Amino acid sequence: MSEKFKSPEELEKLKEKYIMPSVSHYYEEPMNLVKGDQQYLYDSEGNGYLDCFAGILTNMSGYNQNEIEEKVVDQVRKLKHTSTVYLIQPMLELAEKLSELAPGNINKTFFVNSGTEATEGALMLAKFFTGSSSILALQHSYHGQSYIARGVTGIAQWKEAELFTTPGVHFVPNGYCYRCPFGKEYPSCNIDCARYAEEVIKTATPGHIAGIIAEPIQGVGGFVTPPDEYFKILYDIVKKYGGVYISDEVQTGFGRTGEKTFGIDHWGVEPDMMTFAKGMANGSPIGAYMATDEIADSFKGSNISTFGGNHVSSTAALANLNFIEEHNLVQNTAEVGRYLKEGLEDLKNRHKLIGDVRGKGLMLGVELVTDRDEKTPAPDKTKEVMEAAKNKGLLVGKGGLYGNVLRIAPPIIFDKNDCDDAIDILDRAISEV
Ligand SMILES: Cc1ncc(COP(=O)(O)O)c(C=O)c1O
Repeated sequence: MSEKFKSPEELEKLKEKYIMPSVSHYYEEPMNLVKGDQQYLYDSEGNGYLDCFAGILTNMSGYNQNEIEEKVVDQVRKLKHTSTVYLIQPMLELAEKLSELAPGNINKTFFVNSGTEATEGALMLAKFFTGSSSILALQHSYHGQSYIARGVTGIAQWKEAELFTTPGVHFVPNGYCYRCPFGKEYPSCNIDCARYAEEVIKTATPGHIAGIIAEPIQGVGGFVTPPDEYFKILYDIVKKYGGVYISDEVQTGFGRTGEKTFGIDHWGVEPDMMTFAKGMANGSPIGAYMATDEIADSFKGSNISTFGGNHVSSTAALANLNFIEEHNLVQNTAEVGRYLKEGLEDLKNRHKLIGDVRGKGLMLGVELVTDRDEKTPAPDKTKEVMEAAKNKGLLVGKGGLYGNVLRIAPPIIFDKNDCDDAIDILDRAISEV
């Protein structure tokens, strides 16, 4: 490569000096990633990596995807930003597209720049609509890094200080069968994890709630995927107590989970609101929240996000959603995801380090444990597997309360050959560790 790139060591020094220490990065020996092409990333030394993390589930349709990038570059050259005090054609066309895709009466959108802002806005609207400030959130959830978004986040690592506890937020159990907090087994458990929400509402709230915010598959929480009945039970409880159901689709949206457009569609639940970010614009910064007409129209006050709905991000999102549709990527995700999951299950049969394999589509979690009977989390081994995989040319992510879950979420253009390559490298990385 002809450009003059800084070495990873030089970049680490800059980072240490100028970036707040709360920002951590993967790998003992990190790389300077300088180029992406389809499902591959390349570092400044020219090493290539098969990418199974997609910039935290963001580069959804692959890097340097001509059909998308040409439209983005063209828009950058024409006009980047005016703000919503003017009419923005790409934003309005995107909003129309979202309304076509969204379930039920969810038709109206407010555009922001990140998932965190989408969480904030959705919660504000739910509270406004219901006149209640009691919000339910799931244990092991992640909804962003601002004050309120951390308040509804249920992972200790992101709470840090008592300060990040938001009044009015009540946590209810997630559907984490591998580590059931009730010590029960599915299906004889009666899905008590979902039913417990009613106890929380009856004991910790005035008896009516603003609603719940929940990820269909918990991303940062380690791709925790609840049993089939879980969300329907939770939904009915939320409705019984007057709340709105907010599905956080920041990681699960737009086909990531295969077969369905949105994660929550797998559970037969029609939410009242949804939040988006990450993969929506294939790497351009964007966020949005949507609501039913009734909820959206209830708020007649003023609202503006200066960059929300800007020409470039909106163009990128529209091009990306069309690309996903035109290339049948939701179905591809289902098929290739099934194949990849089989490969991971096979690894589980051969490596005792793997305690659980879960997820849907191309959002697959591999939980690592040092003792299968005790389910002892293996965070150090997880780091070692990631490092070894990286050295062999494969990037995977990490998550979970204990930092012991490999998160496998490649661009959804992945094919079966890519899966074979990924499984082969993971196999060798785990054997080495
Ligand atoms: C499910 C979910 N919601 C919200 C967010 C926050 O998004 P952002 O980092 O764009 O603010 C994230 C980020 O990881 C997420 O995974």
